[in-house]
Amino acid sequence: MISHRRILITGAAGQLGTLLRASLRGQAEILRLSDIAALGPRRDGEELCPCDLVDAHAVHELMQGVEQVIHLGASLNVDDWDQTLQVNIAGTYNVFDAARRAGVKRVIYASSHPPSACIPSKSTWMTGRRCVPTAFMDSASASARTRPVISGTSSASSPCACV
Ligand SMILES: NC(=O)c1ccc[n+]([C@@H]2O[C@H](COP(=O)([O-])OP(=O)(O)OC[C@H]3O[C@@H](n4cnc5c(N)ncnc54)[C@H](O)[C@@H]3O)[C@@H](O)[C@H]2O)c1
Repeated sequence: MISHRRILITGAAGQLGTLLRASLRGQAEILRLSDIAALGPRRDGEELCPCDLVDAHAVHELMQGVEQVIHLGASLNVDDWDQTLQVNIAGTYNVFDAARRAGVKRVIYASSHPPSACIPSKSTWMTGRRCVPTAFMDSASASARTRPVISGTSSASSPCACV
């Protein structure tokens, strides 16, 4: 049964994106699928919209006409701070900001939040502040979890779920 107009999935070529692409078939009039990786052939009810999340203007264009967003686009290369900063922090900022500007009703965001990974816990930084990340990926997740408040997307008209 179709209950949504247009749902955008970022990171649609990834593991979770591929699963959702299949399971959301028929749930929306249009599934807009986006990634920097190949998305395969378009199926009925799909729009394929390649987009680099680092490009704020492109993300703004990507968001037009979207009702709900499932944001899965990410670099899982957690050892690489530059990738984490560009894709997971700046890219996620671009998604939330574009969603707010485009009047998107709901953003669902999935990010991993390992308690410790890649670097020893003694390397923890920002200790004593509200966020205490133990790895680069943690800081990306923590940043994104505060993003709805920063960008105003937590208003009643634009709820945000971080899972
Ligand atoms: N797979 C899991 O079990 C799991 C569990 C919890 C949370 N998560 C989180 O869900 C999200 C997706 O996980 P996944 O396992 O599907 O990861 P994945 O690596 O399979 O997919 C991520 C996708 O993002 C795309 N991407 C990377 N850089 C991009 C960019 N600059 N612009 C646009 N797209 C870009 C990649 O091409 C890839 O297809 C991640 O944030 C991950 O931390 C995953």
